[in-house]
Amino acid sequence: MQKRTQKRKILFTFVLTAVLALSFSVSFTASAREWDLTIPSLKEVFADYFPIGNILEPAEAFEGKTAEMFTYHYNFVTAENAMKPSYIARTPHDWDFSFHRLDMYIDWALENDIQVVGHTLVWHSQSAAWLTNDEEGNPLTRAEARVNMERYINTVAGHFAGRIYSWDVVNEALRTSVGSPPITPADEGWWKNMLRTGSESSANEASAWYAAYANGMDEAAGECPSDYIYDAFVFARLADPNAILYYNDFNETGAGKREAMAQMTEEINARWETDPRNTEPGRLLLEGIGMQAHYWTSDLSPVSVELTIMRFAETGAKVSITEIDIPMGRYGAYEDATEENLTLQAKLYRDVFDVFMRHSDSIERVTFWGKADPQSWRKEGSPLLFNANFEAKEAYHSILTLVLGAVPADTQNNTETEVTEQPAVTAPQEDTQDGKESSLPVLWIIIAIAGGAVLIIGGIVLLKKR
Ligand code: XIL
Repeated sequence: MQKRTQKRKILFTFVLTAVLALSFSVSFTASAREWDLTIPSLKEVFADYFPIGNILEPAEAFEGKTAEMFTYHYNFVTAENAMKPSYIARTPHDWDFSFHRLDMYIDWALENDIQVVGHTLVWHSQSAAWLTNDEEGNPLTRAEARVNMERYINTVAGHFAGRIYSWDVVNEALRTSVGSPPITPADEGWWKNMLRTGSESSANEASAWYAAYANGMDEAAGECPSDYIYDAFVFARLADPNAILYYNDFNETGAGKREAMAQMTEEINARWETDPRNTEPGRLLLEGIGMQAHYWTSDLSPVSVELTIMRFAETGAKVSITEIDIPMGRYGAYEDATEENLTLQAKLYRDVFDVFMRHSDSIERVTFWGKADPQSWRKEGSPLLFNANFEAKEAYHSILTLVLGAVPADTQNNTETEVTEQPAVTAPQEDTQDGKESSLPVLWIIIAIAGGAVLIIGGIVLLKKR
């Protein structure tokens, strides 16, 4: 009898421990991941300077807490992946599902006074193979690729016409690193030699659009592979005349790449001036230049950022910061979020925001590429304003001080870093996370459930034995 009571006690202790462990883990996970919406709203703080954007996938727009936080802080949205050709049109047919989902997403944004950036129409990465290649993987001819491009842009930009604020029409057409700019401005068309071609050694770097446009071109008639960029802008203008059309690229602060982007913009706009399809004289075709701003704490130079904004503004186009993140470390070597790195990151965010604010007349918007660190495509470098617990980091406070004035104690000990103009030598990696979050909270729940299950099974076995 005494033995049975003892076993019951053990069983009771097992079950109680399991229940406590489970509820502790679940509540720990939940409480640690609440967005604090009592802190100042980013879009309100910077309202006198520029709108503030971030990325959001369609599914997240219908996930209560994330959507609530998004409308609190941001007034521009870019889909991290969902509006790329590989997501919209994997095959030449059957695009309806994407449109339905994206229509709901755009409706949600507009109902909440959030402007939508279309990202992106023509890109060498995350594209759809059928647009540029035949079934064996060979480039289509220039004429075939052009027909596909026109159909794709008409269908997609045409479908969303009137609801998209701006389109990233062409993304990353230039090589990762361009090196030095030409010595004299006499080198007309120089930027065309800096484009990704189809023949890069790494397939990830090659542009299938360029390769197809080279296949069957009539050089004597003045055709060149780079025409795909001009065509993309013209098709986009005709499909959605209201949208502001952007060229978007990274490593934009390097002296060579900056110059190539600016010259591309100038040449495309000059060509449009005399194009018979241009019915709005005085309006540019390539109206905006997107600085992706995928920087690194190791070599970010606010001076180069400033020179880049100034050079882009000279073209007459608007400038936007389209994908900013500043991970800790350098290309190929992320570093941990040590106190020192957090402080350095905060200082760099503050320095570049200071530049953005001083040039706010040229800047149309500033968009972050991610909400909380573990959700970032570069999460290993903790690159954003909010940490894994959704808490505001030093970087958030540091940019706020530029407007609100007060300097919180934790950002006062910044070490000065040398600021020099330097060509960008780094490239953001293309990875394949598709914006998925870190599995940390999921891990907690799995551990808790597994622990609970072991305890309960242990209890049952004990009970059976009695
Ligand atoms: C990234 C996404 O964040 C990732 O989820 C995806 O796996 C790869 O693409 N330049 C761009 C963005 O224009 O579309 C890229 O987004 C980051 C670099």
